[in-house]
Amino acid sequence: MSDAKLRVLISAERIQARIQELGAQIDKDYPEGPLYLVGILKGAFMFLSDLSRAMKRPSRIDFIGISSYGRGKTTSGEVKVTKDLDSVVEGADLLIVEDIVDSGVTLTYLMHILDQRRPRSIRIAALLDKPERRLRPVQVAYVGFSIPDEFVVGYGLDYAEDYRNLKDICVLEA
Ligand code: IMP
Ligand code: MG
Repeated sequence: MSDAKLRVLISAERIQARIQELGAQIDKDYPEGPLYLVGILKGAFMFLSDLSRAMKRPSRIDFIGISSYGRGKTTSGEVKVTKDLDSVVEGADLLIVEDIVDSGVTLTYLMHILDQRRPRSIRIAALLDKPERRLRPVQVAYVGFSIPDEFVVGYGLDYAEDYRNLKDICVLEA
């Protein structure tokens, strides 16, 4: 970890400004009533925290845990639920909050299982999108930033559990 180089890709200021815009857009788009923000553990915790405060509408917060890459930088293609929602979401407006959409495998799987619980609506908000890497098509309603195919850390995103607490989003250079 000590010899890895970090290069700032998106500064904390830019992240915060963009999240204010996303929050305002979400406020406009949804009808009255509570919105369930479903954060995907653990990478989305910081984005969810700031996004929920950038919205004026009432929201409820829940989390779901999905198995991820382990210690590697690419998906294993294998996805499983490691922590389920606490809430019953039938009839609810769900906004899945994710740190980054890469291959799209995780979100395709999650949309499938949440759909079976009959929410009223289901959309995705992702802070980052790497469109070049997509293997499964996913519709992302709210995207913070589209980024090139580089491995990034910070603002919730990790590499082998390190770097989540950085304020900026940085490229991790070998
Ligand atoms: P997908 O199923 O390939 O779309 O994987 C999405 C998940 O992979 C994200 O929720 C992240 O946890 C992880 N991920 C993908 N790209 C990166 C990255 O550049 N940095 C850190 N984690 C990443
Ligand atoms: Mg994740």
